[in-house]
Amino acid sequence: MKTTFAAGAMLSAALLGGAPLAHADTELKVFVSSQHQPDVWRKVLDQYEAANPGTKVTIETGGNTSEAQVQYLNTVMTAKDTALDVLILDVIRPAQFAAAGWTSPFDGKDMSAYLPAYSEANTVDGKVVALPAFADAMFLYYRKDLLEKHGIQPPKTWDELKAAVKTINGAEKNPDLQGLSFQGKAIEGAVCTFLLPYWSQGKTLVDNGRLNFDRDAAEKSLALWKSFVDEGMSKKNIAEVATDDTRKEFQAGDAIFAVNWSYAWAQSQGKDSAVAGKVGVARLPAMTGGEQSTCLGGWEWGVSAYSTHQDEAKKLVEYLSGKDSSKYMAINGSLLPTYGDLYKDADVLKAAPWFADALQVVETAKPRPVTPRYNEVSETIRTTVNAVLAGVMTPEDGAAQIEARLKRVLR
Ligand code: GLC
Repeated sequence: MKTTFAAGAMLSAALLGGAPLAHADTELKVFVSSQHQPDVWRKVLDQYEAANPGTKVTIETGGNTSEAQVQYLNTVMTAKDTALDVLILDVIRPAQFAAAGWTSPFDGKDMSAYLPAYSEANTVDGKVVALPAFADAMFLYYRKDLLEKHGIQPPKTWDELKAAVKTINGAEKNPDLQGLSFQGKAIEGAVCTFLLPYWSQGKTLVDNGRLNFDRDAAEKSLALWKSFVDEGMSKKNIAEVATDDTRKEFQAGDAIFAVNWSYAWAQSQGKDSAVAGKVGVARLPAMTGGEQSTCLGGWEWGVSAYSTHQDEAKKLVEYLSGKDSSKYMAINGSLLPTYGDLYKDADVLKAAPWFADALQVVETAKPRPVTPRYNEVSETIRTTVNAVLAGVMTPEDGAAQIEARLKRVLR
């Protein structure tokens, strides 16, 4: 695989005169989510070690979904455990971690080089509390080969998507080919599942910190997702499907369409993929008559307040959040860059041509509500989405439940 570090590696080898690395004076432990290519981050860390003799960095992975990771981190941080120095955090968490006193601020850090959404997400009460790792948004993955074969354009509305599934399934007659894979499990990603069609009806959830809930739009959102199951276009067990399940189903060639984040691209083009070269990525469809909208994702690097290597950990985070690392992860892990100009970079576009259109999507993506009580907002929405998809609650009752609970949390 292509690396942007070749020059740096040669330089550090030259500086070292080929001598073996000195023994490690500092050992840093970095927490990385297992979903986001720890093996690729490892290569970035190898380069860091090569350029910083005396520092050894190890990776700890955990949790394949955002809420599973944060559950683990909550335990570690509550115990004031010094074992972790650097933490990768979902974009919804820096504010919460800062409020708990779990991360150390980066005093005087200039954030202007990053995309504005990430500069904002990492600045809390005027303090920079973490630095961007990668950008993210939800997209529609589709089987380019099948759409082309049947003369279909990527759908711009969910109704168009259903029509496309009918045409393709009617002709292909492959009972194992699912129309649409999306996330119905009660995971953090299901908050976005709910918000996508909700937002696309022109609605907001929170305005100026106050709940602005549209029950009718919420019911329509829940009903839309349920209709994919009822109409046989999504798997019956969609209530058990998490993000990486969708990634695997699509990569195995078992789905025409999939809702997913940017990381799924790299693996869909890899040697273990049944669909390499057959994948297209587009904006997510809207509700008919609505606007195409997506959920802002992304991950950030925080330094644990309990790390006993504050300066070294910050130095490492600066590096991980730097442009070279962002470019490397874009090329080798299809993680969206946090620097605007990398979306035009020739090496990046060679690895992920669709990134050329992704900047605009990231820039217009809508953030999930920012509140110290985000955990309760998340739990309410994701468990309701899951209950509706499992068939134990109607969309109508689901919308009423979300409204009643959010009213208590976001007054
Ligand atoms: C992606 C996004 C993150 C989101 C998560 C949900 O990792 O980057 O922000 O919360 O998916 O599953």
